[in-house]
Amino acid sequence: MTFNEIYNRSCENPQAFWGEVAENIFWYKKWGKVLDDSDAPFYKWFTGGETNVCYNAVDLHVEQGRGEQTAIIHDSPVTDSQQKITFNQLKARVARFAGVLVQQGVEKGDRVILYMPMIPEAVIGMLACARIGAVHCVVFGGFAANELAVRIDDCNPKVIVCASCGIEPGRVVEYKPLLDKAIEIANHKPDYCIVYQRPQTRADLINGRDLDWQAAVAKASDADCVSVAATDPLYILYTSGTTGEPKGVVRDTAGGIVSLKWSMKNIYNVEPGEVYWAASDVGWVVGHSYIVYAPLFNGCTTILFEGKPVGTPDPGVFWRVISEHNVKVLFTAPTAFRAIKKEDPNGEYIKKYDLSCLQSLFLAGERTDPDTLNWAKDKLGVLVIDHWWQTETGWAICANCLGIEQLLIKDGSPTRPLPGWQLRALDDFGNEVKTGDIGALVAKLPLPPGTFPGLWNARQRHFDSYLKSFPGYYETGDAGYIDEDGYVFVMSRTDDVINVAGHRLSTGAIEEVLASHPEVAECAVMGVNDDLKGELPVGCLVLNSGIERAPEEIIKESIQLVREKIGPVAAFKLAVVVKRLPKTRSGKILRGTMKKIADNDSWKMPATIDDPAILDEITVALQSLGYAQN
Ligand code: COA
Ligand code: AMP
Repeated sequence: MTFNEIYNRSCENPQAFWGEVAENIFWYKKWGKVLDDSDAPFYKWFTGGETNVCYNAVDLHVEQGRGEQTAIIHDSPVTDSQQKITFNQLKARVARFAGVLVQQGVEKGDRVILYMPMIPEAVIGMLACARIGAVHCVVFGGFAANELAVRIDDCNPKVIVCASCGIEPGRVVEYKPLLDKAIEIANHKPDYCIVYQRPQTRADLINGRDLDWQAAVAKASDADCVSVAATDPLYILYTSGTTGEPKGVVRDTAGGIVSLKWSMKNIYNVEPGEVYWAASDVGWVVGHSYIVYAPLFNGCTTILFEGKPVGTPDPGVFWRVISEHNVKVLFTAPTAFRAIKKEDPNGEYIKKYDLSCLQSLFLAGERTDPDTLNWAKDKLGVLVIDHWWQTETGWAICANCLGIEQLLIKDGSPTRPLPGWQLRALDDFGNEVKTGDIGALVAKLPLPPGTFPGLWNARQRHFDSYLKSFPGYYETGDAGYIDEDGYVFVMSRTDDVINVAGHRLSTGAIEEVLASHPEVAECAVMGVNDDLKGELPVGCLVLNSGIERAPEEIIKESIQLVREKIGPVAAFKLAVVVKRLPKTRSGKILRGTMKKIADNDSWKMPATIDDPAILDEITVALQSLGYAQN
């Protein structure tokens, strides 16, 4: 069938379409209803059905004869080690760790936080939760104790699992002191912490509360997969919203399995037994969906890479991993390619390796600039596919479906909406804009399976953030246009979310931290363009009157404060002190205008500005940081 035929079918009769796709996964009990719209605009998929994520990802393959196939390759240049785990071994290790969780009192529906680096135990922990119906919540290692505490208080985990450390180039990041501090700050206290001791650092354990992973595993018995409702939550993954309070995006069980398994063949054109590599982190949605779940649902070998695109040890590491492990598809963020291109502009390292196994490169996480796209295409000689998605959606909204029919690639576009997705570009009043004009990108409800059924304990926030502005549609928070061929171009966010090295950050959250500095009266944070990371946060600080200390000291402290409260991942290193912030007469800070000035984009004096002279002061301040040069 052609892409158009499949797409049209998915829109005309979503129930028949997804019902048929759902036949390809293992069920303990088939669904009663494919789509349950009894609580619209909140929808549920496959109500009445029962299945298990871990069974579909691991046990099923053992039973179907893939037991001796490698399931996970842990390739860790930062520790100079590699480990291959077969499906048989994975099943044994997951069942045993699930047994540890059960022994510690974890039951179906209980939450378990995983604060882990890129080691197999992170994946084992996730699958073990899924095995017993517990809800995992992975927190990215680059977040500080305070961010971890916010998540502890929101999802109230019974158990927290962490490793003694993560390894960043040039430094060992000790996780346990961060975890201890987070638990101290949080109101909710977990019953137990389970600590995986890595050889690089041994963590101190607190008697009675902390267990040693290895010792606990040695004593435990195995736990089997339990049958869970199709609509039960598999995980919560926090992502940035417009405020400092992160949103707990929930993924349901069956929708995730059905959509992700479908995507492996249809989008990525990967068959069971082939090697798939998502160079991301298990702490992000790409890591959940495409390091862990989708490749395993599809019986593929997945690569768990603990390193960086450059510096571990050189910009050839991606090519080494691809050729050494026979990778068919690589999925990463454009920023990784910009980092490689910067260090190896002529692609000399690419020439050192045989990359004939690589069929395609998929990029997502941020807009792919045509320079990066063309460099990757020229140097690798493979298909380079931009695709667009979000933590909320769990899989792509738009992509070029290589497994169905390769469509024309247009630079700057993630191609067309996928089956199940009906997109529109709307104006502020909810009317469709003209073809080619920019509008708010929205998707007609219901969204397909695998997308988020809700936010953890925040139904009203779900409605207000995504469903309220355009009734009948999901508001993506991205703006863009749709051309005459139905190709979507995603241009920018419509909210205060910025994208730094493929990581989603809230300027509001950074502002909240800066405003907590006792000498900062008010502040504004914006994302300015950056050649490597796409965007970088820049802060403008207004100090309390009468402060006599040097502004540089306060800037330094503010930068440190963001690192301590949010974490190094915020990459907040640029701030200036200004006398005033530009505002509208009603008091709204003109962040958009400031960003345009910083980026040397053309801008118009806002009609509602309170005092135009402030923009001259801001320009001078931004120039001191190397921006606003024109
Ligand atoms: N634990 C602790 N600290 C971490 C961390 C982790 N898991 N991940 C990142 N950090 C720290 C880094 O060490 C760095 O600290 P520093 O300020 O002391 O240097 C800071 O957080 C910023 O990290 P990062 O944004 O990764 O920048 P970088 O300069 O280390 O590397 C790139 C730049 C482009 C190479 C890197 O961002 C990259 O590989 N990006 C790929 C993007 C990606 O995987 N996105 C996921 C969506 S697909
Ligand atoms: P996250 O939830 O962290 O995956 O970030 C999602 C956001 O990243 C989207 O809302 C977009 O703003 C941006 N994004 C992801 N993929 C793309 C893409 N292919 N093109 C443009 N923006 C993208």
